[in-house]
Amino acid sequence: MTTTTPLPYSVQWNDTHITLLNQQALPSKIEFLELFTVKDVYDSILTLKVRGAPAIGLTAAFGVALGAIQENTTDLWQFKHNVTKHVTTLASSRPTAVNLFWALKRMENTLQAANSIASAKSALVAEAKKLFSEDVEMCRKIGEYGLSLFNEGDSILTHCNAGGIATARYGTALAPFHLAKERSFPIKVYACETRPVLQGARLTAWELMQAGVDVTLISDNMAAHTIHHKKIEAIIVGADRIAANGDTANKIGTLGLAILAKHYDIPFYVAAPSSTFDLSLESGISIPIEERNGDEITSIQGIRIAPENVKTFNPAFDVTPHSLITSIITENGIISPDYRSNIPLFVK
Ligand code: MRU
Repeated sequence: MTTTTPLPYSVQWNDTHITLLNQQALPSKIEFLELFTVKDVYDSILTLKVRGAPAIGLTAAFGVALGAIQENTTDLWQFKHNVTKHVTTLASSRPTAVNLFWALKRMENTLQAANSIASAKSALVAEAKKLFSEDVEMCRKIGEYGLSLFNEGDSILTHCNAGGIATARYGTALAPFHLAKERSFPIKVYACETRPVLQGARLTAWELMQAGVDVTLISDNMAAHTIHHKKIEAIIVGADRIAANGDTANKIGTLGLAILAKHYDIPFYVAAPSSTFDLSLESGISIPIEERNGDEITSIQGIRIAPENVKTFNPAFDVTPHSLITSIITENGIISPDYRSNIPLFVK
């Protein structure tokens, strides 16, 4: 008999500040951080205390609301100018997940529509809360559509953490597993550890165990062997940005898994809300790929594992070409190729 524990929210609005689940402390500690300034919010996104495309966007939106309610100016133009500066600061935190820019755009539009400082402050708080509740809804629907693709007893492989703690609730790629658990629908999940930052080992394994989902952790280099020997039926991952032709940026290592899926002739699914699509980009070649500090590779949890001064290359994401993606699961339904023609039918 497995015990289940309710999953903490990744981000919560508390009227005067933001409460954040510190994802860097997991799984050893369930720790919450209180963020009182826009700088706190920016630093938390940059240092991955909050991560995952939708959660980054939601945290930044609450960051704008926080910055706005703290403004003391009585001049509307000055107020809008100052809040726009907060938007610009938060937009410079991480480059790849488009949900960040999408959420900030919604906040910016709300700001510009206001005709008094008081109404702008309350509208910005309301908009951030709305983004949060919309995300809960979108993720639940993604879970429903995702689950419809699986059969009882399936073994499914996932990468990184596209779970409840990477979103407002449920997650994207992990949403079907949370719903399966609610419905006593048996599914076995294999989670890749996801070097260098270990989102799979630290977060997905923890999140699914908290929920009572049957999860098995493997290191990244075990994926091919596991697919071959453990009868993996499908691979499902989240996304940070999806271009108009379906090319998808997601956590580094995703591309290799998509190639493996093709080799072993199993479906490769991407699960993402419409806020993850960037239809202004023709293809994945234009998606900016974040490169992070090499220390993430040369050390694990503060312990050095590589020679001093070794050269490193640390891209945080890769782009999977649309030709390797079987379908894209959104809150509006399951999109099949041809993506260039079909995405606009599901994503406005
Ligand atoms: O660097 P991270 O941990 O923010 O990367 C997260 C991912 O790549 C997720 O798969 C993606 O953001 C989707 S989260 C629902």
